[in-house]
Amino acid sequence: MLRPQLAEFMRRMEPNSVAILPAAREATRSNDTEYRFRQDSDFYYLTGFKEPDAVAVVAPGKQERYTLFVRPRDKEKETWTGRRAGVEGAKEIYGADAAYPVEEFQEKLAELLDGARQLYYRLGNGNPELDQTVIRQLARMRASGRRGVRPPQSIVDPGTILHELRLFKTDEEIALMQRAADIAAEAHREAMRAARPGVKEYEIEALIEYIFRRSGANAPAYNTIVGGGANATILHYINNEAELKDGDLLLIDAGAEYEGFASDITRTFPVGGRFTDAQRDIYELVLDCQERCIEMVAPGVTLEEMHERSVEILTDGMVRLGLLRGDVKKLIEEEQYKKFYMHRLGHYLGMDVHDVGLYHTDGQPRPVEAGVVMTVEPGLYIAEDADGVPDKYRGIGVRIEDDVLVTPEGYRVLTTEAPKQVEEIESLMAR
Ligand code: GLY
Ligand code: MN
Ligand code: MN
Repeated sequence: MLRPQLAEFMRRMEPNSVAILPAAREATRSNDTEYRFRQDSDFYYLTGFKEPDAVAVVAPGKQERYTLFVRPRDKEKETWTGRRAGVEGAKEIYGADAAYPVEEFQEKLAELLDGARQLYYRLGNGNPELDQTVIRQLARMRASGRRGVRPPQSIVDPGTILHELRLFKTDEEIALMQRAADIAAEAHREAMRAARPGVKEYEIEALIEYIFRRSGANAPAYNTIVGGGANATILHYINNEAELKDGDLLLIDAGAEYEGFASDITRTFPVGGRFTDAQRDIYELVLDCQERCIEMVAPGVTLEEMHERSVEILTDGMVRLGLLRGDVKKLIEEEQYKKFYMHRLGHYLGMDVHDVGLYHTDGQPRPVEAGVVMTVEPGLYIAEDADGVPDKYRGIGVRIEDDVLVTPEGYRVLTTEAPKQVEEIESLMAR
């Protein structure tokens, strides 16, 4: 039985074509130690295979439609680095029609490519050796044209099919994403309980990631951001080394990866448990913007429209608070808001935190459809040394980020278990 994702991929391939998809490779952390292995999302989506050094070949028109090249069983190596499915496992567990040791990929390539009109292969995807192998093979085949060897005529990015499939989540995938969201929401609640003056940012990071792992998440879906005070105004602050101070806000952007799917949540709350008036001004503006943008989510809306709306709401609010001065329309035209709101409202979410899928089609912003999951994450970041802003707002950074599924009727927020109303946060922290 073929995995449904693979069966659908085959259905969408051009007739008489072949696809080559490599697994991720091990990455060195230092000298001879490696990062924990994380499978390539495309490869994992199609195969469910978790080991490095593998190549999948998909050829729907051939006798052997699905071939896996894998690391062979090896008693000694497995003692050091862990169990392998091997050639037998590739067939029995992962459903390959044929399987070979990965060392044989190069010599089998000519036969696999022969007669295919189109090759699906993603050139320049971080595996230059494999790129070279494929290119050399194509050159060799062209040189042998007189002997009846027929190289593929075109090379197409398999992402054209695969990323469209990945953009629309099935019910099973949504269930995994809900679990990833629930785990991250719990971590954010516990972080709110644990934060107080004197605690280090890394202690909060450790608590969050402990909850992720304890709950069966593979890892954080991206580097956890724990930024107290003005650190919250640095968008990708991951040092997490400072001490939390009374009177400061704490911005936490943390999401879990569960069974290959990401969650991505940001919450911002006061270290001491109560918002100051100035913090509340900014927070309520960002929250109002976020809620109104979430309400726009439904089949047919574009992320572009939502982003533009967020710019209008935030710019209008910033004029009201004295962060910007002038006519709202003109300020938007001149992109003055970018001083304090420099990123986009949101992105697709899935196996990758910034997930695949086209944002534009036919040169136009693309309307979303049911099954798409996106983040909605407006923010305002007022640097400590920002010019021409009221003193009380300097050093305040606020972002609020939820994960939202597009449904046939509208939307469902996956991350409701992480509190974001001022009263909810203050009462949770008072306990
Ligand atoms: N944590 C990455 C993002 O929010 O896009
Ligand atoms: Mn995000
Ligand atoms: Mn985030």
